Amino acid sequence: MSLLLKGGTVVTHEETYQADILCEDGVISQIGSNISTPADTKVLDVTGKLIMPGGIDPHTHMQLPFMGTVAKDDFASGTIAALAGGTTSIIDFVIPNPQQPLLEAYQQWREWSAKSYANYSFHVAITWWDDSVSQDMETLVKDHGVNSFKHFMAYKNAIMATDDILVASFSKCLELGAVPTVHAENGELVYHLQHKMIAEGITGPEGHPLSRPPLVEGEAANRAINIAGTLGAPIYLVHVSTAEAVDAIRYAKDHSQIVFGEVLAGHLTVDDSVYQNPDWETAAAHVMSPPFRPKYHQDALWKGLQAGTLQTTATDHCAFCSEQKAMGKDNFTQIPNGTAGVEERMMVLWEHGVNSGRISANEFVALTSTNTAKIFNIYPRKGCIRVGADADLVVWNPEASKTLSAATHQSNIEHSIFEGMTIHGLPETTICNGKLAWHQGELLAQSGEGKYIERPPYAGYYDTLQKRQELNTPKAVSR
Ligand code: URP
Ligand code: ZN
Ligand code: ZN
Repeated sequence: MSLLLKGGTVVTHEETYQADILCEDGVISQIGSNISTPADTKVLDVTGKLIMPGGIDPHTHMQLPFMGTVAKDDFASGTIAALAGGTTSIIDFVIPNPQQPLLEAYQQWREWSAKSYANYSFHVAITWWDDSVSQDMETLVKDHGVNSFKHFMAYKNAIMATDDILVASFSKCLELGAVPTVHAENGELVYHLQHKMIAEGITGPEGHPLSRPPLVEGEAANRAINIAGTLGAPIYLVHVSTAEAVDAIRYAKDHSQIVFGEVLAGHLTVDDSVYQNPDWETAAAHVMSPPFRPKYHQDALWKGLQAGTLQTTATDHCAFCSEQKAMGKDNFTQIPNGTAGVEERMMVLWEHGVNSGRISANEFVALTSTNTAKIFNIYPRKGCIRVGADADLVVWNPEASKTLSAATHQSNIEHSIFEGMTIHGLPETTICNGKLAWHQGELLAQSGEGKYIERPPYAGYYDTLQKRQELNTPKAVSR
């Protein structure tokens, strides 16, 4: 069945205009006024509503095995939450155990994700190194539509990538036209500070931010950027949470490096006072890495988005329930790291970005969808509204409002880091692959209807990168 959206205002990353949109066979087939209604077409009156590209969350962890447990939202509940919040695609992470073949882990995640309600794609983490890893990276890029690889600079004795791995993997990414991405925290410093806190008797959640101060992120961000810069590779920093990391990205961009920065809805709006909550369970519910920061960092993050230093917004949705968090009751280092947010990201950005006057509605579209599609090379299939693009759309009601709460969210966990936040302007209908997937509080999509998104390697800026590197390399002096 086709779908005709009538009477709405189309908002893209670059323009705003009145038009009807016809979706046929999963794609946008017509945009215009007074489109005639083909047979077997559902007509939705969206007068007074905004039609925007469906959100793309470039950072989620559904069903992640992590820190001795498995994240509570799987690819079913996690993608239902995404659709409820206007997000039609997620990019999740395949995280192989050290020594596990990358392709084996990738196949495992493909099996888990087959039940998705929304579209999905995968970054693949590089947690160890040998020739087989390099070979598997090549196979993933050439045969499986993976064009980004993740490096955890933290989580020592687990999945941490040391500098030798970063150098080998970033070089391979450059060769393949893939984007290296990093979780930038100095794992050695975290390890040292965690032991120091425990030795001093600080065992509660308040020890978490103390063991991961802003400089721990600033150091790793600078190191990753400088390694990439030396090799002539691009780099994407996930969950940038500090002024120090924003400064590092800005400096590198000013010096002609290709650097991308992602920020989480949580880091933009929640501060580190949450770790002082006398209720252990509530404080522990906020344990994620990097931690929530003193308020002044939020200002730097918003300015980073406004200036284009940061280009994408994500959630790092990695949901652990209270029982799982209690694994660290006597030692904060054992609290599974992660919080939810895939449902709330766009609403939080709308309220604190658009309604507060920090960003325009067009910038909102860029920051929640288009820029991610461009960076990870799925634009203009995703992230835009144009004839031929996938019909992944959100109908936004600027007049509706609600207060966010764990009592009403789709996630399987009992806490929300956005508890009590009132939002003015809500996603009312989510259209995924041309079908109504979520409509006025009701799930209409089916399990398995989400599609795997192949992302081809990037050719575009890699040519430029190589030329830039030549420009920046001192020439040998001929005597
Ligand atoms: O605390 C977090 N962020 N958990 C998920 C893993 C990661 O570091 O992204
Ligand atoms: Zn991370
Ligand atoms: Zn993450």
